[in-house]
Amino acid sequence: MPGKPCPRTEIPGRRQKTDAPPLTLAVHPNLPQAPTYTQCLVSELPAMKPQTTLVHAGERRPLGNYIPVSTPIFASSSFFYPTTEELADVFAERLPGETYARMGNPTSSALEEQVAAVEGGHAAIATASGMAAVHLALLAGLLDRRQAIVAADVLYGGTLELLRTVLPSEGVEVRFCDFCDLEAVEAAVREVRPALLLTETISNPALRVARLDRLREIASEYGALFLVDNTFTPLLIKPFDHGADMVIHSATKYLGGHGDVLAGAVVVPEEHAEALRQTHRCLGGNLGPFEAYLVMRGIKTLPLRMRHHCANARMVFEGLRGHPKIERLIFPGDPQHPDAKAVHQLMPAGEAGGAVGIDVKGGSEGACAFLDSLRLAATSASIGDLTTLGLHPSSATHRMLTPEARMALGITDGLVRLSVGAEHIDDIMADILQALEQA
Ligand SMILES: Cc1ncc(COP(=O)(O)O)c(C=O)c1O
Repeated sequence: MPGKPCPRTEIPGRRQKTDAPPLTLAVHPNLPQAPTYTQCLVSELPAMKPQTTLVHAGERRPLGNYIPVSTPIFASSSFFYPTTEELADVFAERLPGETYARMGNPTSSALEEQVAAVEGGHAAIATASGMAAVHLALLAGLLDRRQAIVAADVLYGGTLELLRTVLPSEGVEVRFCDFCDLEAVEAAVREVRPALLLTETISNPALRVARLDRLREIASEYGALFLVDNTFTPLLIKPFDHGADMVIHSATKYLGGHGDVLAGAVVVPEEHAEALRQTHRCLGGNLGPFEAYLVMRGIKTLPLRMRHHCANARMVFEGLRGHPKIERLIFPGDPQHPDAKAVHQLMPAGEAGGAVGIDVKGGSEGACAFLDSLRLAATSASIGDLTTLGLHPSSATHRMLTPEARMALGITDGLVRLSVGAEHIDDIMADILQALEQA
């Protein structure tokens, strides 16, 4: 793109040294005077393919008379303007701009545009972690509504703990049920009359897949919002296409993708944008600009990485079928998976995410011997990195549940959650097979 001069606005009324050039500010790209090529790009991006949109979304904000190709890290906690009047206009949103970093920072704002593009939402808020995003979404969903939630019984351990301990102590009623059992969901919703329903697209770590469209119908019938945590399936599942009211991400996982940042995000359609912003301003769980920069960089390659993770996970599943050391293999792309119909309906053909559950024979002992023998893959609590990662949920993320509760949710002692990385499949398989030999 050839460099074109960026229109500048003279800001009158500020005392200047006589020989100093007048202070100027770049025009925000959303204003009519903004450079036409930036405007064109912003308006054309939604119609482009994800590989294109996600490389450019949020970028090309003019900075003075130039435009950085990649949004810089704005390490500033507040922003000043030449006149008090102008700052007042920005506070009142009569003029675009930033005031104080908890209200917004140019780097995280650029990331928010990009994450909104990932989900096809109207607006997004970037948060300091995935848990901060879950908390923000729940509080925004509860705002001015009945303080009650119906949630899936298999969720990430931190989310379960928030729902089991913190929110009830704040007076929120929480009911859990199996979201793959639609009759049970309807009965719970009819009885509790919740403000919202919460589920994950692929449950962590049992890898169950609920019927989002049917859950949405139940939520709508009883006037509840429908919140979906899409951490495991960005680009594969589009919760807004299935009626979600808010989409949550732990951006620590596939969005960031490189295992180097803790972050989260909530994406909403226009009707929920103000409630989300208002709640966020009060909670203050902002993402810092350094972290926002890393997540932005990660999302640019998200379409490439997701395709690769999905292909590798499928090959791991195929390669481990019938292995004598494995009690049960869980992969949403398995035609025998209990939710195969939902997977078929929700995800692109042939793609079923990057996670594989391996129930190693010998319970905890077998699972730990397998994990401790991995040489390439790392035993780690995360998912979605380029590196293949393995975890023993019953001694880590879900250790707070009783053994009976874990068993009821399919989290057996031998279960290992594998997040298949982007390394070459031959090396991944060789590592898994040699580790299974040791189990
Ligand atoms: C589905 C899901 N949601 C939310 C979270 C919380 O994210 P974070 O660890 O970034 O706070 C996790 C973490 O593993 C997760 O797997």
